Amino acid sequence: MCGVFAITGESNNSGDIVLEGLKKLEYRGYDSWGIAVKGEKTIKGVGKISDVSMKFPSGNTSIGHTRWATHGAVTKKNAHPHTQGRVTLVHNGIAENYLEIKKGLPKKYRMVSETDSEILAALIDSLLKKDPKSALRKASKMIEGRFALVVMIEGFSGIWIVRRGSPLIIGRGKKETYVASDIPAFLKHTNVVNYLDDGELAHINGGSVEVFNIETGKPVKKRNIVVDWDQEQATKDGWPHFMIKEIIEQKETILNTLNHKSSVVEKFVNSMKKKKGSYMIGSGTAHKAAMFGEYLFAEVANRKINVVRSEEMKVFERFIKKGTSIVAISQSGETADALEVLEYGVKNGAKILSITNTPSSSIARMSDQHICINTGIEKAVASTKAMTAQMALLLLCAYSDGPGISYGRRILQETGANINDMLNPRYSKHIEKIAKKISKEENMFIIGRNSLYPMALEAAIKIQEVSYIHAQGFAAGELKHGPIALIQKGTICVVLGDDTQTLTNAIELKARGAKILGISPTNPDVFDYWIRVPDCGTAQAIATVIPTQLLAYYLAISRGVNPDMPRNLAKSVTVK
Ligand code: AGP
Ligand code: GLU
Repeated sequence: MCGVFAITGESNNSGDIVLEGLKKLEYRGYDSWGIAVKGEKTIKGVGKISDVSMKFPSGNTSIGHTRWATHGAVTKKNAHPHTQGRVTLVHNGIAENYLEIKKGLPKKYRMVSETDSEILAALIDSLLKKDPKSALRKASKMIEGRFALVVMIEGFSGIWIVRRGSPLIIGRGKKETYVASDIPAFLKHTNVVNYLDDGELAHINGGSVEVFNIETGKPVKKRNIVVDWDQEQATKDGWPHFMIKEIIEQKETILNTLNHKSSVVEKFVNSMKKKKGSYMIGSGTAHKAAMFGEYLFAEVANRKINVVRSEEMKVFERFIKKGTSIVAISQSGETADALEVLEYGVKNGAKILSITNTPSSSIARMSDQHICINTGIEKAVASTKAMTAQMALLLLCAYSDGPGISYGRRILQETGANINDMLNPRYSKHIEKIAKKISKEENMFIIGRNSLYPMALEAAIKIQEVSYIHAQGFAAGELKHGPIALIQKGTICVVLGDDTQTLTNAIELKARGAKILGISPTNPDVFDYWIRVPDCGTAQAIATVIPTQLLAYYLAISRGVNPDMPRNLAKSVTVK
């Protein structure tokens, strides 16, 4: 994962500019950080880059990194940039064969860190003769796995960058060039960009940018693209955390889904329908949105969509060919697990479709058709408003494949209005009170049936990631096949829905001593605590997942966890 930022040009405070840019990339990793101004001593630290405020030594070329550790603990030594010989670099990704590379290095290299990245610095240094380009080409061909590298070399001007699998975008100034993992990091300075593609390397120096193909070494012409993306300054607007702000924003974001043109949705759905099967992939929360899509397509359009977790797609890849479609659901559009599936799809002639929140992302750019959910930047690590916008769009897609999109629009309109009423301060207070009462629990189970089953799984992810409570979601009907053995006196079970069968399951839980928190339109006798949700028909899952987000948020607050940046996680997971 991690965020990288680099600048070369005329500003003598390049280190300070890198610090500012990295702060915008913190969502990609926040365990440690480091910045190297060319010719100066590298400065590193453990902790969040947003907490750093300092002045860097002057110099017009600098590189920096905010890390999400994969190889080696979170320590100052393991933080990037890493230096070996004349090479100083930052690395996003994993060099899968790093041990093998290490074995092949000349004896003179002594590693200071436990990272795979430092070995890459030594590798490039060992290959360095007159021309950095050929050393970088050779090194890139030797490295296995997905990565991005940003490299400064003593004795050579400018910065070298390499991309294979992890995002790197070049920002073009007149006499200055920026490189970052994501556009907002340099948008303050320029909105003219070059997208570096996989298998390319570039030398940037002042305002000059030369791009080459790694395989052939030949120059590649790049188009200057003007990004008409207002610099969206996501601020907390008086809210204590982004997570709660983004939960409450669902008052509007779900209704905003109605702005998608019917013709765009219909065209998208037509491309999904393929004789040899339609696959839908996603990771984590995006996968749960896809599962909701699967249920809805079956229910209202009589169509079977094959939903697979991106990271479990390997075994099903054999079914991907010309005549199949793959729909990727991803907030960031940069998740490596999904990208790998799509790359396979492209190679094998599948139609690539995607739903993301980031039109400039790698997934969006490699798709034949892409729809942006347009919810505005989602900053909190826990995905909330992006998920419900994905679900709302999938609802429109399913209706457009079934009885007609206008039916979907009507349902969404009503659901959006109901959610708008539901999300009032009294509602949040009620959930906060319940959260306080149950916040000492170490285990929680959530059950749901039909399209509320993926919401049970989603509620569990949300509670796990922000409150660190061991939460697990089950299909309500599955309880009696095993999980019910876990229930003891006082175990908290969250029951989504009030249909007869699910209530029977709730009664079975209660009979074994469980305390029931029901989330449903009605309040039958069996519930010990109740959170009301409006009755929303086929959109019930959208309304039901929102109080589970609030519950997770208030559980985190009660337990003293910062829900915006939970431990061990990052917003965008760009490593395998
Ligand atoms: C959501 O709360 C999680 N942080 C995580 O599961 C996330 O949904 C997953 O990593 C997928 O991210 P994406 O939507 O950006 O692809
Ligand atoms: N593999 C490298 C490390 O552990 C880079 C990880 C990242 O992308 O942040 O430091």
